[in-house]
Amino acid sequence: MIQAPRLDGRFRLSEIQARELAKDFGTPLYVIDETAFRSRIRRYRDALAASYPRTELSFAAKANSTLAVLAIAHQEGCVLDVASEGELRAALAAGAPGSTCRLHGNFKRSDELDFALAQGIGEIVVDSLDEIEMLAARAFGATRLVLRLAPAVNPVTHEKISTGQADTKFGLGISSGAAEAAVRRCVELGLPLSGYHCHVGSQLLDPEAQLLGGETIARFAVQMAKLHGVTPLSLNVGGGLGVRYVDEEPMEVEEYCRLVAAGVSRALEGSGLAPTLAHEPGRALVAESGVTLYTVGPIKEVDLGRGAQRVYVSVDGGMSDNPRPALYDAAYTVLPLAAGDGPTRKVTVCGRHCEADTMFRDVELPVDLKPGDLLQVLCTGAYASSMASNYNRFPRPATVLIRPDGKPEIVQERETWDQVLAREPIPEDLRT
Ligand SMILES: Cc1ncc(COP(=O)(O)O)c(C=O)c1O
Repeated sequence: MIQAPRLDGRFRLSEIQARELAKDFGTPLYVIDETAFRSRIRRYRDALAASYPRTELSFAAKANSTLAVLAIAHQEGCVLDVASEGELRAALAAGAPGSTCRLHGNFKRSDELDFALAQGIGEIVVDSLDEIEMLAARAFGATRLVLRLAPAVNPVTHEKISTGQADTKFGLGISSGAAEAAVRRCVELGLPLSGYHCHVGSQLLDPEAQLLGGETIARFAVQMAKLHGVTPLSLNVGGGLGVRYVDEEPMEVEEYCRLVAAGVSRALEGSGLAPTLAHEPGRALVAESGVTLYTVGPIKEVDLGRGAQRVYVSVDGGMSDNPRPALYDAAYTVLPLAAGDGPTRKVTVCGRHCEADTMFRDVELPVDLKPGDLLQVLCTGAYASSMASNYNRFPRPATVLIRPDGKPEIVQERETWDQVLAREPIPEDLRT
């Protein structure tokens, strides 16, 4: 029988809601609950504010850059952390002025920097010495610069989302001297250097690395104030707080903020410096507010010999609407619509793509599950729609926002066949 999921804060659809949404909007379908998203932002913001005298909460747009999602984050007072011109354009289109955005990236193109500065971007997070030289000749207006530091801490998370270690393409190493050289160069050039940043990794269930990262950049700030007279206005410890995909036990946000702030405060003690403490989570704000709905397709029972069998349940999506299982072996909670008392069995849920496209392993689903039934996958609000592709020419799914009054509103249309094929003129002589 299906285990009743542990009571947790993750958004999920009722059976009736799921059936109506599938009927009205089709599947696969991303669904975001506005109330859950807003209350998560408020809880994080309050926890952060309670942890330290001056704080700032950002939303990392890469987690979900659907315009309505960005508009909600902006309305809730979040700075929007963008990692490309495309994300910045999305933030602007969502109604956030450039001054409320922060630009990241290990390689910001020259035209990207020009565009960001023309929009009066609030902050640019400088990632390299070469970038400082690119910035040297530019006019800044009110834009501030923050240096991204590589604090050389090793987070406990998947290697592909681990960024705080010494061996990384991101940021300026402290121990190598690159970070201090960057500070010196900013001072020489008279650039508006106003703080430091680190992001040690994502889906962190153990806060140790984040705590160390914060402490390290705060210590660096104290040193730079002494050596080069740079007063930091902000210290940004990035994002990274983990969420519950299956049975993980992420730290409560209050405890997390308290611990990270305590590390920063310790490092600043006696320095007379009073920077704002900034966090820029993505996943922890939006992941648990979203689900993906799929329709079940063919079900196969494959004989593995010696009496063993694997049951493949195919769904009408796959790695194109959620590449995280393929990229990181990510696991998810998969629920049938009605969790009854009937018998269940372990199955492998696979997508429709021309790869193994294993989406969810060892999922307990009813024995009588059949083609046409619906499944909802929890905690897909982050890094699903924003990482979607057109592999195998699949149209990317729609996103529906459940408004506070319970009504669903489409906020991202399902891609049409015309859109899927729109970018490709065929040379005249190749037309038959
Ligand atoms: C610089 C930076 N900030 C914030 C984030 C958001 O991380 P998360 O979604 O884990 O909170 C990321 C994620 O890659 C990042 O690279």
